[in-house]
Amino acid sequence: KSLKELNTFGIDARCNFLVTYDSIEDLELLHRDEFFQESKKIFIGEGSNLLFLANFKGIVLISNIKEVVRLEDREDENFAYLQIGAGVVWDDLIKYTLDNGLFGLENLSLIPGTVGAAARQNIGAYGTEICQFIQEVHAYDTVEGVKKSFTHDECNYSYRYSIFKEDQMFGWVITDIVLKLPKTQHPNLEYKDLQNYFGGTSHPTCQEVRDAVIEIRNNKLPKVGEVGSAGSFFMNPILTQEELAEVLKIAPDISYHLQKDGKVKVSAGWLIDHAGLKGYRKGNVGVWDKQALVLCNYGGATGTEIGDLADYIQTVIKERYNITLKPEVNYIY
Ligand code: EPU
Repeated sequence: KSLKELNTFGIDARCNFLVTYDSIEDLELLHRDEFFQESKKIFIGEGSNLLFLANFKGIVLISNIKEVVRLEDREDENFAYLQIGAGVVWDDLIKYTLDNGLFGLENLSLIPGTVGAAARQNIGAYGTEICQFIQEVHAYDTVEGVKKSFTHDECNYSYRYSIFKEDQMFGWVITDIVLKLPKTQHPNLEYKDLQNYFGGTSHPTCQEVRDAVIEIRNNKLPKVGEVGSAGSFFMNPILTQEELAEVLKIAPDISYHLQKDGKVKVSAGWLIDHAGLKGYRKGNVGVWDKQALVLCNYGGATGTEIGDLADYIQTVIKERYNITLKPEVNYIY
């Protein structure tokens, strides 16, 4: 089965089996199946953060758990709680929340992918991260056959990170999540792009913030389905003050943000751009000319071509700035 339509890079890798499951009961059935237990497997959402480097010799699993339930018994004057299936498309959920008078997710508009993937990798954009709203994550261990509800703290969230990315969590799959969402509007305009958009004077609604984010993203990032990509390919590196001081000697005007813990997050896009690689092209692959953190398949590329381009960028950045860029995208072999 071709995976071309199931990954936003549009890599034409193949898998042996493709399985869609509708419920935890389906996962329990799979857990009891010997063939399933012995096979190599991977759970994917919309494939917007994956790079298939070869054909996948195993089972690709996709969640079709799509219920959205408002937990009325938990609700109070200020907050509502939504239980959302991992297979729900992330941006559809944002539309649903705003249409129902629930706010907070608007800065995360238009991020491709599903709810399960969003919670696993702690998606973030324009000064907001999904973990700010996560109350619980419900997951199933397909190796041991057990369910568990993880509290917010147990998820261990940080920048693009959660416990579900740890090696020992292999086998666990997120089935649904519970978000705690405010019923009043507190637009988050801390990000420079949004301040520029609104000019610092008006008081936009959360819907207006969503519309602005959509416009900004459409201007900067390739449209999913038109050019193959997976959003930011690398994570923004987090450096100590000492490491930053070294980098500032070579790149005095580098763009960076101070973190709460005193470390600094430097812009990988800035590094790649100032290394002269923005718009770089080799064969079927290249660096997007409006955002240097985005690698593209311009048509017909293999996963290895994208992987080689990523290696090349990592080498250049290491040599020039002594910084190791880590992929945000998951490499699948
Ligand atoms: N910059 C450049 N050249 C570039 C790109 C960026 O100089 O080609 C510099 C600019 O100074 C700019 C700064 O980097 O002000 C930050 O750029 P941008 O606002 O585009 O954000 P980013 O740090 O490159 C991160 C996320 C994006 C998210 C945006 C907006 C990561 C890895 N990426 O990108 O997330 O949409 O912020 O909040 O943290 C994704 O994860 O797939 C993704 C798209």
